[in-house]
Amino acid sequence: MANKTASFAPCARHFQMKTEILSTHTPELFKKAVRRAAELLRAGEVVALPTETVYGLAANALDENAVAKIFQIKGRPSHNPIIVHVASNEMAERCAAEFPALAKKLSQAFWPGPLTLVLPRAKNIPAAVTAAGETVGIRWPSHPFIQAVIRECGFPLAAPSANLSNQISPTNAEHVRAQLDGKISLVVDGGQSQVGIESTVLDLSVVPARILRPGMIHAESLVAAGLPLADPSSAKASGRGPTAEGALKSPGLLRKHYSPKAKLVIWDWLNDADLESQIRHRSSAISHTHIIAHTKIPSGEKLAGVSVIPHDVEAFARALYAELHRCDEAGVELIVVEAPPDSPEWSGIADRLQRAAA
Ligand code: TXA
Ligand code: MG
Repeated sequence: MANKTASFAPCARHFQMKTEILSTHTPELFKKAVRRAAELLRAGEVVALPTETVYGLAANALDENAVAKIFQIKGRPSHNPIIVHVASNEMAERCAAEFPALAKKLSQAFWPGPLTLVLPRAKNIPAAVTAAGETVGIRWPSHPFIQAVIRECGFPLAAPSANLSNQISPTNAEHVRAQLDGKISLVVDGGQSQVGIESTVLDLSVVPARILRPGMIHAESLVAAGLPLADPSSAKASGRGPTAEGALKSPGLLRKHYSPKAKLVIWDWLNDADLESQIRHRSSAISHTHIIAHTKIPSGEKLAGVSVIPHDVEAFARALYAELHRCDEAGVELIVVEAPPDSPEWSGIADRLQRAAA
C-alpha cells in the first residue's frame, strides 16, 4: 500500500495547524470528544465529525463567518449550498420558514437518517449556507456522535462532506485526515460510516417534489411513506442522474463529481478473457487496472488488484468509497466497476458511479 501521507498536498492559502484526532470508542472518550468538538464549534471553528452517511465538515450553521471557513477549507464554490444538520424536530422547524405536512410525514418516517429535505429557509439561516437561495437543506443524522454534539451546542451544524471539493467523500477518519490534515483543528473518529454514500436530497420546495440526489432512501420508499412524485420512474435515476433542471438547482449535482483520480468505467463482462479484451480495447494496461466486482469475480493475476464487494446493496454502499480511496492511494490508472443491477434500491450507488465515471 502507498504511503498514506503522500496523498496530502499542503495548500498554500492556509497556514498549517496541528490536526487533533479524537477517538470515541469508550463512553469517557466519547464525552471528552463531544465537549472538545462543541467548544471549538462555539468558538466559530470548523471540525470534522462522523455521520452515518459520510464524514461531515461542520460549523455553526447560524454563524456566517464560521460557514465561510468551510468553503475556504474545501475549495468549495460559493454557489453550492450546504446541508444543515439538526437533532430534533423543533430544531428542524426553526431552520425552515414552513414545515409542511408532507415534510412532517417524511421526517417521521426517515429521521434520524440519510434523507435531506429542501424547504423554504428561515430568516436566521445565513446566505452563505443557502448559497444566497431561498431554500435550505435540512437533515437529522442518526450517528450518535454528531447528535450529541448538536445537543451540546444547542445550534444546528452546517456540514458538507469532509473532503476537498470534487474528491471522494470520506467514510472513515483516516480518509478525512489524508485530505484535510493541517487545515482543521479536529477530526473525530466515529468509526466506519454505516451507510457509506451521501444522503438522498429531496426538494419539497417545489410541487411536485423532486429527488435532487438519489441515495439509499430511494424513490419507492419515499412514495411508500406518502410522497406524491410526478413520475417515480424518472426519480429512480437508475444510472440516468438528475434532470438538467435538477443539476442547476443543486450545483453539487453536476454530472462530474465525487471522482477518483483514476479513470473509472462501469462494465459488464462474460469472463476473464472478455474483461481483458475490453481493457485492451481502450488501450489501458491490465497491470494498472483495478477491478471492483460483486458477482463475476476475475482471477486477478495480471491485474493491479481486485476488490470484491458483496452483492448486497447496503454492504456495497458501505464499502464503495473506501475502495475508491484505496485505488487513488495505490495510483491505479483505470478502475473497472462491475455494473450494478438496474433496480430502485441501487439507484443511489448507480448515480455516484455515473458521476465518478463522467
Ligand atoms: O449525507 C450527506 O448529505 C452528507 C453528510 C455530511 O450529511 N453531506 C453532504 O453534503 O453530502 P455535500 O455538501 O457534500 O452535498 C450536499 C448536496 C449538494 O449537492 C448541494 O448542492 C445539495 O446537497 N444541497 C444542499 N442544500 C441545498 C438546497 N437548499 N437546495 C438544493 N440543493 C441543496
Ligand atoms: Mg460532497
